[in-house]
Amino acid sequence: MRIGIAGTGRIGAYHANTLRNLDVVDEVVLADAFPETAQRVAGELGLQAVESVDALLDSGLDGLVVASPTTTHESLIRAGVAAGIPTFCEKPVAASLDSALALAEVERASTVPIHIGFQRRFDAGYMRAHEAVANGELGFVHTVRAMTLDTAPPPKEYVEVSGGIFRDCSIHDFDIIRFVTGREVSSVCAFGANKGAPYIKTAGDVDTGSGVFMLDDDTIVSFSCSRHNAFGHDVRMEVHGSTGDIAVGLDDTLALTSAEPDATFPAGPRVMSFMDRFLPAYVRELTAFVEVVQGTRPSPCTVHDGVQAQRMAEACDLSRREGRVVQMSEIPDVADDVQAEASGSAV
Ligand SMILES: NC(=O)c1ccc[n+]([C@@H]2O[C@H](COP(=O)([O-])OP(=O)(O)OC[C@H]3O[C@@H](n4cnc5c(N)ncnc54)[C@H](O)[C@@H]3O)[C@@H](O)[C@H]2O)c1
Repeated sequence: MRIGIAGTGRIGAYHANTLRNLDVVDEVVLADAFPETAQRVAGELGLQAVESVDALLDSGLDGLVVASPTTTHESLIRAGVAAGIPTFCEKPVAASLDSALALAEVERASTVPIHIGFQRRFDAGYMRAHEAVANGELGFVHTVRAMTLDTAPPPKEYVEVSGGIFRDCSIHDFDIIRFVTGREVSSVCAFGANKGAPYIKTAGDVDTGSGVFMLDDDTIVSFSCSRHNAFGHDVRMEVHGSTGDIAVGLDDTLALTSAEPDATFPAGPRVMSFMDRFLPAYVRELTAFVEVVQGTRPSPCTVHDGVQAQRMAEACDLSRREGRVVQMSEIPDVADDVQAEASGSAV
């Protein structure tokens, strides 16, 4: 199997390394907007690089991995699908909700599978929480808490094209809230603040956010995010039900300090980056994509799923800007016929 990667920056180089170690993958071919970047990564990993994304698409690929900036996702997904190549694309599905909705139409109109990269769906803890809720092990779920605290803000150039903390960072929590609870959101009230890196405020973004979602079964979900958690990458979820609870991220790597004098938990060492935190999940995720390419499974996370997470981000941004509760019905959605076709998706 021959897999091409478009975009060989932070996550593209990481995915290249994962893919080259999968038994079923024979060749990994790299391209980047800057050919020298692809050449350098190819040299480091012992892979092949080509001059451009066009050359990549013409090189006889079985599968395409899009790992370029969010602003390029729509055109590259369209190019992959037009060439008939099963396409994996990093989150978020697109830079704007309009783009994401247009891609939902592309997905509906084609038989070429598209897999959106929300790797938490392949993390052992989140999979277990999903299973516990789906099996009714927790009774009825009344509250959920979800959070992502990053050790350091991304560079200024990244922040400027990221779409903001809700669309870029919390979107992982938004997707996994849907995945674990199996529910959709009805309304949200969100807040944002800046206390750290000044370029985040200049870009119109916030470095810290929090909010509360009401789900369509009256489960109340609180979430929070920050770019400034220098002492550890803290990604967690708690699910509380009437007869039980379950927590994701509650092991000795937890980046939290106990105030209890005799506590020995968490013993450490702490995880400092998403790459360390989710290494096994990324391997499972790309293994799943390879199975999508082989035609042995459907996409485990469709554009439709990506659109729903993006709508949640859109609602949070609107809420924090206007200082009010936002109903999800205010946020544009995919057309009803597309909804109906996507109802068999992974959530
Ligand atoms: N799932 C995750 O945990 C995760 C983590 C990090 C990033 N991401 C996502 O991955 C994407 C890339 O993020 P990153 O941190 O690797 O960014 P990055 O800036 O480190 O790398 C992006 C690379 O894409 C190249 N590029 C730019 N335009 C291109 C084009 N049109 N065609 C091909 N290559 C192009 C750039 O030259 C650069 O090398 C973003 O959408 C981001 O949201 C996901």
